[in-house]
Amino acid sequence: MPGSYFMPPVNLIERGALRKVGRWARSMGGRRALVVASLGAFGESQGGSVLAALEEEGLQGSVWAGVGPNPTDRMVAEGVDRYRSCGCDFLIAVGGGSAMDCAKAVGLVVSGGGAIADYEGLHRSTKDLPLLVAVNTTAGTGSEVTNAAVITDTKRHVKMTILDWRITPRISVNDPELTVSMPPSLTASTGMDALSHAVEAYVCRQASPITDALAYKAVELIFRWLPRVFREGSDLEAREGMCHAAFLAGMAFSNSGLGYVHALSHPLSARYDLPHGLVNAVLLPPVERYNLPVAASRLGGLAAAMGAALAWHSERENAERALKAVEDLRRELGLPGRLASLGVKAEDLPELALEASREIVGKGNPREASAAVLEQLYRDVF
Ligand SMILES: [Fe+2]
Repeated sequence: MPGSYFMPPVNLIERGALRKVGRWARSMGGRRALVVASLGAFGESQGGSVLAALEEEGLQGSVWAGVGPNPTDRMVAEGVDRYRSCGCDFLIAVGGGSAMDCAKAVGLVVSGGGAIADYEGLHRSTKDLPLLVAVNTTAGTGSEVTNAAVITDTKRHVKMTILDWRITPRISVNDPELTVSMPPSLTASTGMDALSHAVEAYVCRQASPITDALAYKAVELIFRWLPRVFREGSDLEAREGMCHAAFLAGMAFSNSGLGYVHALSHPLSARYDLPHGLVNAVLLPPVERYNLPVAASRLGGLAAAMGAALAWHSERENAERALKAVEDLRRELGLPGRLASLGVKAEDLPELALEASREIVGKGNPREASAAVLEQLYRDVF
């Protein structure tokens, strides 16, 4: 059980929250921001909205719309160059997990020097980062509240997990109005990422009463709001519900840890450049089925949060009902349930499983598995 808990000191979650960013950044000493945004015109536009909010408070900034999905060490190096050449003194990420993870990584390198690979692992930083503001525009990764960043090492073709308390943003922003432009497919996959965070946090070895409360409520909110927001993307009440859910799930796993869903997911995303939430949606059912022998009471408890529990059923039966509820939700959201349909090749599975067995995020899984067992979990949904 963790005895230390990390979260941003300031968290803005409401419609119109973006308009408060400049005031908070100024009060924390920010003057000139590098706005780290997603690649292309969409990222430029999101970055422009952030700049407008800063300018209202007399702050300046430059937009760098250079972060692709699954951010790489090269993108981080480019962001560091931009930060230095623009004379910035703080960072604002705007976008989903990729932009936020990249900004965290840029912050590590501008404060501590070296290359981002030097920070792979647990608490490797020695210097405080510049002020980091994370403006989330999806409702899934939880990166705006976590001490984690995932960056692809382009030489080794692996995803580096960086866990470091110093990369927890100082200001997190969840403005439901920024999430309405997400298409249904992205709404679905990011929502399933949030669900995988909540479920893995709830069943993992390091779960505590604090992370349980966060994860349980997140599951309840996801089952209440995700189907609705998938059907009706402009429903701001549902969008706000998913902002709360993803935020809670992010705080839960940031403080408890994750498990094999994420350990198995990272190598697949790194190799085939697949969206993280989409892969997690496929892997969540087989991993939790594998966990059933040691986590029936935990999964049975979550069935209640999903609205799937029956009072006269045993824990084991309710755990089965929870697994079925997750599968039903995935189907309702139109997400694929097989790795082959995502372009994964059967001959790659042994090597991918070996990589998964080395993933630091897998250490929290309640039931240990060898690389051979992990390979079987891939095959269960191949
Ligand atoms: Fe995730």
